[in-house]
Amino acid sequence: MTPIDSGTVHESEAVAVRAERRWAIVVVLIIAMLVATMVFTSLHWASMPPSRVETVDPRTLHISGEFVENNLGTMLDADGKVVVRLIAQRYAFEPQCLVVPAGVPVTFRATSTDAVHGFVVDRTNANVMLIPGFVATFTATFDKSGERLMPCHEYCGTGHQAMWGRVQVIAADEFRAKAKDGARVNCVSR
Ligand code: CUA
Repeated sequence: MTPIDSGTVHESEAVAVRAERRWAIVVVLIIAMLVATMVFTSLHWASMPPSRVETVDPRTLHISGEFVENNLGTMLDADGKVVVRLIAQRYAFEPQCLVVPAGVPVTFRATSTDAVHGFVVDRTNANVMLIPGFVATFTATFDKSGERLMPCHEYCGTGHQAMWGRVQVIAADEFRAKAKDGARVNCVSR
């Protein structure tokens, strides 16, 4: 074995130390960036409401505004958009039976007067929580005509299991005929 030149040993050691220091700095920078991201996002989410939040006063829902009784149900907007407005309250949806056209995007606007309720239309991805004070909005398209169930899926009190409604999906032409002249359409039997 040839003895290793002591000068070479020192030189390679210095190279290794420099490389280790570079990597240590990179790792510290990555950790600092992650911590900064966590701090920023938690402060940001704690101080800002989520986007598109719409609030409504649950105490005056029945008296004024878009959720008064004669404005509930499905309507055809002036620009041809189909809009459903409904409210949830222990232990019923109002209206209990919704009518929507098939194959057309339908915008739902809903809220609750009392507790947190769940809104879901079976065999669709229409699924949202109805929270007092907030307006839940989503758009869904129903491909086939027929009847769907609309149960409350958030425990809201002792009558929760009896809280459900129905959605009737009808042909778009039939719907347009029912909704003409700004009529609010529903299928609640009178
Ligand atoms: Cu409403 Cu459960």
